[in-house]
Amino acid sequence: MMVASIKLLLFLLGPFVSLKLLALAQEENQFIYHGFTGANLLLNELAKIHPNGLLQLTDTSKRQIGRAFFPFPFQFSTSLFNNSRPFSFSTQFVFAMVPELPTLGGQGIAFTVSPSVNFTGAFATQYLGILNFTSNGLSSNHLLAVELDAVPSPDLKDINDSHVGIDVNSVISIDSAPVTYFSDEEKKNKSLTLISGDMMHVWIDYDEVEKLLNVTVAPITRTKPTLPLLSTSLDLFSVILDSMYVGFSSSTGAVASSNYILGWSFNRSGQAQSLDVSKLPSLPPQRKSRKPYLRAAVSAIAAIILLLAISGAAYIIRRKKYEELREDWEQEYGPQRFSYKDLYNATKGFADRELLGSGGFGMVYRGVLPSSNMQVAVKKVSHDSRQGTKEFVAEIVSMGRLRHRNLVQLLGYCRRKRELLLVYDYMPNGSLDKLLFRNGTPILNWVLRYQIVRGVASALLYLHEEWEQVVLHRDVKASNILLDGDFNGRLGDFGLAKFYDRGANPQTTRVVGTVGYIAPEVTRTGRATTSSDVFAFGAFMLEMACGRKPIEPEQSAEKMILVDWVLDSWKIGDILRTCDPRLEGNYVVEEMELVLKLGLLCSFPTPAARPIMSQISQYLDGNASMPEMLPLDGANIGLMPVSHEEPGDCTLSFHRSNDYSNNSFSSTDSILSCGR
Ligand SMILES: *[C@@H]1O[C@H](CO)[C@@H](O)[C@H](O)[C@H]1NC(C)=O
Ligand SMILES: *[C@@H]1O[C@H](CO)[C@@H](O)[C@H](O)[C@H]1NC(C)=O
Ligand SMILES: *[C@@H]1O[C@H](CO)[C@@H](O)[C@H](O)[C@H]1NC(C)=O
Ligand SMILES: *[C@@H]1O[C@H](CO)[C@@H](O)[C@H](O)[C@H]1NC(C)=O
Ligand SMILES: *[C@@H]1O[C@H](CO)[C@@H](O)[C@H](O)[C@H]1NC(C)=O
Ligand SMILES: *[C@@H]1O[C@H](CO)[C@@H](O)[C@H](O)[C@H]1NC(C)=O
Ligand SMILES: *[C@@H]1O[C@H](CO)[C@@H](O)[C@H](O)[C@H]1NC(C)=O
Repeated sequence: MMVASIKLLLFLLGPFVSLKLLALAQEENQFIYHGFTGANLLLNELAKIHPNGLLQLTDTSKRQIGRAFFPFPFQFSTSLFNNSRPFSFSTQFVFAMVPELPTLGGQGIAFTVSPSVNFTGAFATQYLGILNFTSNGLSSNHLLAVELDAVPSPDLKDINDSHVGIDVNSVISIDSAPVTYFSDEEKKNKSLTLISGDMMHVWIDYDEVEKLLNVTVAPITRTKPTLPLLSTSLDLFSVILDSMYVGFSSSTGAVASSNYILGWSFNRSGQAQSLDVSKLPSLPPQRKSRKPYLRAAVSAIAAIILLLAISGAAYIIRRKKYEELREDWEQEYGPQRFSYKDLYNATKGFADRELLGSGGFGMVYRGVLPSSNMQVAVKKVSHDSRQGTKEFVAEIVSMGRLRHRNLVQLLGYCRRKRELLLVYDYMPNGSLDKLLFRNGTPILNWVLRYQIVRGVASALLYLHEEWEQVVLHRDVKASNILLDGDFNGRLGDFGLAKFYDRGANPQTTRVVGTVGYIAPEVTRTGRATTSSDVFAFGAFMLEMACGRKPIEPEQSAEKMILVDWVLDSWKIGDILRTCDPRLEGNYVVEEMELVLKLGLLCSFPTPAARPIMSQISQYLDGNASMPEMLPLDGANIGLMPVSHEEPGDCTLSFHRSNDYSNNSFSSTDSILSCGR
C-alpha cells in the first residue's frame, strides 16, 4: 500500500522528486541516508538541513523543539497479514549533542515511531516534543520512542544525567540505563556522556518473535558491541498501528545543546543497512578543537568584555530578574504576599530538577523558604495580568483562609507580569494518581484507599456545606489529590478551574474539567454546581475501587467506560469483579461494595438524584446506611433508587460514544427517562 501511494506520488510529482525517493520506492521498506542533502524529510520547528547534509534538530535556544520525520508512513501491517506476520524492524543512526556550556546541555533526542507527524500541543523540555502532561501515558498515543536524555527529570523517574530510555506512550520510560557500551576487548562496560559533543552510533532492533527491543550505543569509532545496552521484552502489538511514521524529535530545556543527526538507516522488515561512517557529513567546528593558545587569548578578551558588561548590566538584570507586579489594592493581603526573590531562591531559580510535576494549569516546583526552612510547593500559573486579576487574587486569598486537614493548604501568592505564583504546603507523597496508576510502584492498600476516600469526602463536605461560602472545586480527580506524610488524601487546586472558566487562559477554552469526571449537565449548561463536584467524586470513588481511569479507550467495549462496566457487573450480581485486581482480594467487602455503589449513585445523570456531600460522608463513616438500590433488569438498562426522597421511576442508560480521539470532550453521555 505504501509503495503504491509512493508510486502514485512519484507519478504526480515526476521530476521534482529526488533520486533518493526513487531508490526508496524500489527497495520498499527501507532507507539509508549518509547525510541528508536533498532528503525530503518532514522538518518541523527548529530542524534544518545544512548544505553539507548535516541534520540539525535543535540549536541552543531554550525550551524549543526540532523534529525530522521520514515523509511517508510505513506499513507495520498487522491487519494486512491477518495479525500473523511479525513486524520486526531495525534502525541505526549517528547523532551528536553539542552543548552550549561544556558540562550542561539538554534535553535530548527521541527516535520516535508514531501514527502521525502532527505533534500540536506537545511540549519541549522533558516531554521531548512528543507529548505533554495531559497526553503523557495515554495508551491512545500509540507512541514508541527511544530517548537519549541528557537531563534527569525526577518527576519522570529519570535515572541519570546521561541515559537511554524506552518510552511507550509516555515519557516515563519503561526501561532505561545510563549510557554505556560493552567493550568486547576489555569485556567490560564503558561509560559515555551524551553531551560530550562526540558522534555516537545507535542501533535499535525489535524482534517480534522474541518480543525484544534492543538498544545499543557506541562511540562512532567502534563497531556494534556484541551486547546491547538495553534488551527489553516488549509486546508492541497494541502500540504499533498499521501505518506509522518514523523520525526524530528533540527538545531543549533550561539548558540547551545543538543536537545533530548525521546518518540514518531503517528497515521495516529486518536488519537495517550498516552506516558507512566515512560517508557522514562533518559537524560544525567546535570550540574545543581550537588551538590552546588561541583559545586562551580569546577567552581572556571575552572575560574582560564580559566583566565590563556584567558590572554594567548586573544592576539592571537584578532588578528585572526579581521584578514583580504589585498594586495598591493588594496591600490588605500583605501577609499572604511572597516576594518573587524569596520564591526564586527557594526553588533554586525554578530549576528543572526541582520540578515536582506539571499538573492542572502549570508547573509545580519544590522549594525551601529561605527565612523559615519550610518546604513548600510553588505553582507557576501563566495568566494575563489584565483580566480579572483583582477578583481572582481576592478569591485566592479567601481560599488561603480555608482550613481543613484534607485540603492542601494555600500559604500565599506572588504576582509577576504574566505569571501568578501560588505557594502551597509541600506534600511529600506526591499525587494520588501516580500511586494508583503507575506500574511498578507498591500498590496502595485498601485501608489507605478507604481512608483517602473518606478524607476527600470530608474536604468536599467542608467546601460545599461547612464553610462560610459554598466553594466549588470543579476538578475533583485522582491527580488533584495529594498525599501528605501520613498518606492522608488532600484535595488541591480548588478554585483554579473557575478562574480558567472565564477564559483567561487561551489554552483552556472548553468546558472546564477532565473527561470522565464532567457531569453531563455541565457539558450542556456550562455551569458547575455542588452536584457536578459530586459527580466527579463518584468517578473518583470508582477509580479508587477499580484502580483504573474512568475511560480507557484501549479496553474492550464492555469495560471501556468504567461506570458502565460497574453497573453491568452489578446487574449480573458480580459487582466485585470490577475491583482492582492488584488488591488481590485484600479488602473489606462491605466497604468495597459501598464505595462502588456510592460511586454509581453519584454518577446519576440527573443532578437532583445524586446524594449531597453530607449524606456521602455519613454513608462512608457508617453513620447512615445508603438508600437501597436495585439494578433494574429487563429491557431498560438502568439503576433505580428505591427509597430516595424523590420517588420516581428513573432509568439510567449510558450511551457509548466512540470519539475519544482527541480527548477534548465527550464523557459519558447519559440518557435519562423518568416516568411519573
Ligand atoms: C484471518 O483471520 C480470520 C480470523 O482470525 C480467519 O477466519 C481467516 O481465515 C484468516 N485469513 C487468512 C488469509 O489467514
Ligand atoms: C494537528 O492536530 C490539531 C489538533 O490536535 C489540529 O487542530 C490541527 O489542525 C492539526 N494540524 C494538521 C496540519 O493536521
Ligand atoms: C496535549 O496534547 C494534545 C494533543 O496530543 C492536545 O490536544 C492538548 O491540548 C495538549 N495539552 C495541553 C495542556 O497543551
Ligand atoms: C550516570 O551513570 C554513569 C555510569 O553509570 C556514571 O558514571 C555517572 O556518574 C552517573 N551520573 C549521575 C549524575 O549519577
Ligand atoms: C554491562 O551493561 C549491561 C547492560 O546495562 C549489563 O547487563 C551487564 O551486566 C554489564 N556488564 C558488566 C561486565 O558490567
Ligand atoms: C537482543 O539482544 C539479545 C541479548 O544479547 C539477543 O539474544 C537478541 O537476539 C537480540 N535481538 C535483536 C533483535 O537484536
Ligand atoms: C531488510 O530486511 C529484510 C528482511 O530481513 C531483508 O531481506 C533485506 O535484505 C533487508 N534490507 C537490507 C538492505 O539489508
